[in-house]
Amino acid sequence: MNNKIRSLSGYFHEYQKSIHQPEKFWSRIAESFYWQKPWDKVLSWNFKDPEIHWFKNAKLNITENIFERHLFTHGDKTAIIWEPNDINEKAIHISYKELFERTCQFSNALEAQGIEKGDRVIIYMPMIPEAAIAMLACARVGAVHSVVFAGFSSSALADRINDCKAKMVLTSDGNYRGAKNIPVKAVVDEALEKTTSVEKVIVYKRTDAKVQMKSGRDLWWHEIIEGQNIKHNAASMDSEDLLFILYTSGSTGKPKGVVHTTGGYMVYSQYSFLNVFQYEQNDIYWCTADIGWITGHSYIIYGPLLSGATTLMFEGVPTYPHPGRFWEIIDKYKVNQFYTAPTAIRALQAHGLEPLEPHSLESLKVIGSVGEPINEEAWHWYHDHIGKGNCPLVDTWWQTETGGIMISALAGITPNKPAHASLPLPGIQPIIVDSEGNELIGNNVEGNLCVKYPWPSMIRTTYGDHKRCKDTYFSTYPGMYFTGDGAKRDHDGYLRILGRVDDVMNVSGHRMGTAEVENAINEHPKVIESAVVGYPHDIKGQGIYAYVICDMEGRSEESLIEEIKDTVRKIIGPIAKPDQVQIVSGLPKTRSGKIMRRILRKVASKDVSNLGDTSTLLNPEVIDEIIKGANIK
Ligand code: WT7
Repeated sequence: MNNKIRSLSGYFHEYQKSIHQPEKFWSRIAESFYWQKPWDKVLSWNFKDPEIHWFKNAKLNITENIFERHLFTHGDKTAIIWEPNDINEKAIHISYKELFERTCQFSNALEAQGIEKGDRVIIYMPMIPEAAIAMLACARVGAVHSVVFAGFSSSALADRINDCKAKMVLTSDGNYRGAKNIPVKAVVDEALEKTTSVEKVIVYKRTDAKVQMKSGRDLWWHEIIEGQNIKHNAASMDSEDLLFILYTSGSTGKPKGVVHTTGGYMVYSQYSFLNVFQYEQNDIYWCTADIGWITGHSYIIYGPLLSGATTLMFEGVPTYPHPGRFWEIIDKYKVNQFYTAPTAIRALQAHGLEPLEPHSLESLKVIGSVGEPINEEAWHWYHDHIGKGNCPLVDTWWQTETGGIMISALAGITPNKPAHASLPLPGIQPIIVDSEGNELIGNNVEGNLCVKYPWPSMIRTTYGDHKRCKDTYFSTYPGMYFTGDGAKRDHDGYLRILGRVDDVMNVSGHRMGTAEVENAINEHPKVIESAVVGYPHDIKGQGIYAYVICDMEGRSEESLIEEIKDTVRKIIGPIAKPDQVQIVSGLPKTRSGKIMRRILRKVASKDVSNLGDTSTLLNPEVIDEIIKGANIK
């Protein structure tokens, strides 16, 4: 395979080239893809507006690069292995040829149902091959997909439909997840009561659950594909045409639609996949993420399929029907590269070594981590017991906005260092800045992580609100992309990510804004005000701690706390449900009315020995009450 770095000196060589002659570097990488029309200019950009064009005026279709480009050489190769939730259901292997035909067939069905280039299509589906087919068919016809994690509530789904004015929703009758059978079609029905843009809902029959089909709007997946041709001419897309929108939480307001475009995303998702995981032709690769997150987009679907890889898709959860399920799957398919999140590792570590005993895991060559800082204990457990001490562990730092892995070891090529994402990929220019935005040069420095030069898969805008994109990422430190993370460059020059420096929490690898959870809590009629912070949690990385001022009249604390948790579950989804709710009579506020979150974070972390300067507080007396209420010994 082209474009693969194979040695440490090769890495340094490529990195230098990518910094000194970025356009030459990326044009050489991009040349191995199939473009209907070549670009006029590799890159034009400014970070002020911001405006970023990669492979300007080139024309392509990303699915031609997955299918047509590879079919002669590996049409019969397995593209997707699907492992169902239930161990008694049959697994499915889909070849590139079959995936191509089914994608074409569904592309024709989408067009027959009125989908045109540029239309937005919401995908609210379980982890089944049809979800991949749905994404690829959208890309094939030039529609913009927006996958919404199927665990989100109806109102979270409605917000996303409304924000991008989606014309269609693709969903299922129900989803299997562990022992649960979730009636998702009903969630879609509820969401659509709050939206007006959706014309058609396509329902894939997965669980045979009883559903209401609204006539004129709802159609069965198996009916609309009937009789559709298995050939389809791919739409011609501009390199900067939208490929997808993916919603993610920020420190303020509702989740924003991160926009990724076609050419640059294609080049970078494939390049980073190949190099980080060092994928070889016959390897079996498995990423355990859900397609509702960016990891699922870039490293279950696009990166692997563009590389002609065999990618495993798992419908279920790590602990069902037993806590050895992941290890069982690795042995069953002889998985070579395994990519998961620290929260899953810690949850499985808590079950001890027994679930590992029946499994050899000897096929593993590379193990990976993503989503949150991996603590050293989890790193060592993963490295020693899953990687058996002889698999490189790639700790991959990146974000929804970056589209692909930015800082990570390249497996077996660049050195591993526990809990360090380590070195940037070629083409990536991370810098650490102080609070004024001055670049901190040299080693042993700590500050805010920025990127000072564009890379092909970077965010282009936030859908429908370009100013928000500028304000969020390009205004804090003018001339740079600000990540929202803190980072340290250690004495060896390796980067360690320290976590968010803004009001964004990372709960089980899921990104959640404190303001978003507060807004949900405030919907409860008895709530007067709330403040939410993250705190260290053994399994989840961070837990959600909510301080709430309530009108208590005629109510018990316990029932209110449960109702508040339930309100958040309904408004956002189970992943946002607070772990702790503490009813308080006041919140510590400065004279200008700002909540002093620093103190709330300390109390939630049970670390109250040094609360720092509290002299600007308007109501210092609430601190004692809050500490007492938090049951800190
Ligand atoms: C935030 C982005 C990128 C896919 C999954 C999450 C944190 C992500 C790491 C890592 C330390 C990490 C950061 C980042 N994060 N990977 N290897 N080490 N922190 O995507 O939901 O957009 O969240 O996740 O804080 O900003 P996301």
